Amino acid sequence: MTTEAAAYGGLTAGAESRPEALARTAPARRPGRRRLLGWLGAHRRGGTHEPRLELVRYRLAPASWPRDLPLSIAIIADPHAGGPQTPMEHLARAVGMTNALRPDLVVLLGDYLADGRFVADRPAMRQVAEILAGLHAPLGVHAVLGNHDWWECPATQAGLRALPEAAEAFAAAGLPVMHNELRRLSHRGREVWLAGLGSQWAYRRGGAIYGAHDLEGTLAGIPDGAPSILLAHEPDIFPFVPEHVGVTLSGHTHGGQVRVRGYSPLVPSRYGNRYAYGAVVEEGRHLVVSGGIGNSALPIRVGMPPEVTLVELA
Ligand SMILES: [Fe+2]
Repeated sequence: MTTEAAAYGGLTAGAESRPEALARTAPARRPGRRRLLGWLGAHRRGGTHEPRLELVRYRLAPASWPRDLPLSIAIIADPHAGGPQTPMEHLARAVGMTNALRPDLVVLLGDYLADGRFVADRPAMRQVAEILAGLHAPLGVHAVLGNHDWWECPATQAGLRALPEAAEAFAAAGLPVMHNELRRLSHRGREVWLAGLGSQWAYRRGGAIYGAHDLEGTLAGIPDGAPSILLAHEPDIFPFVPEHVGVTLSGHTHGGQVRVRGYSPLVPSRYGNRYAYGAVVEEGRHLVVSGGIGNSALPIRVGMPPEVTLVELA
């Protein structure tokens, strides 16, 4: 942990190195009741509350990842900027905290704008993208879109354009989004493949939800045996991700926004709590679901403080 990083409130470190531990390194203080009362108290005082921001760190050793190729990946997921949990200055804090970690790679996992009726002053997507463009890492900053980014664009929902307006805002800020796209990165003289999947919840039509994702097509260009990482806003794709992918990184769930003793009563996933939050290993395959920063629908997070997530592969 750098001194600079340690200056941020709530930052903790010291993950266990055992892969089976899959350490979430910030759970030391998770008193749901106290946290809720603290949140309410801060809001009652009016205007003085600064949202918490924790670092949650995982150290993973997937079988398909080269042991001699350590790689650190910082994740910013679900900022929902402009919402109660994420005023713009808080998003800027998240950017500063992430840069202070000096990760090899930064990934942005979608749902960039606030939604719901508790939003007083919603920023433009371009403003959000410009703040996120302040991130930097040797292997770059790479973004995918989330379901809300798709739902925000009526023209896309009507089938009048291929990608939502958010894609243009990000491109204008120098962060062209990945949509069923593969990028080859060079790390320590070796190639690492980064795959960015389209949202699995891209379209809402007639009360049903449809995806814009193409998992097979996106992964097809990865050479045999090459190390790879998959970015997928929604974690529900995980059962279909092949073994050769080192780790799948997701957001979307916000950890259920309310999470008590490892259980979230409401999770936007067909699998319920199975992929609600944190590190998951199934049949040797690895998934990390970031709890993200913001909120949607209800303006609360209980037992799920906003987080920047750091995944260290080795
Ligand atoms: Fe979200």
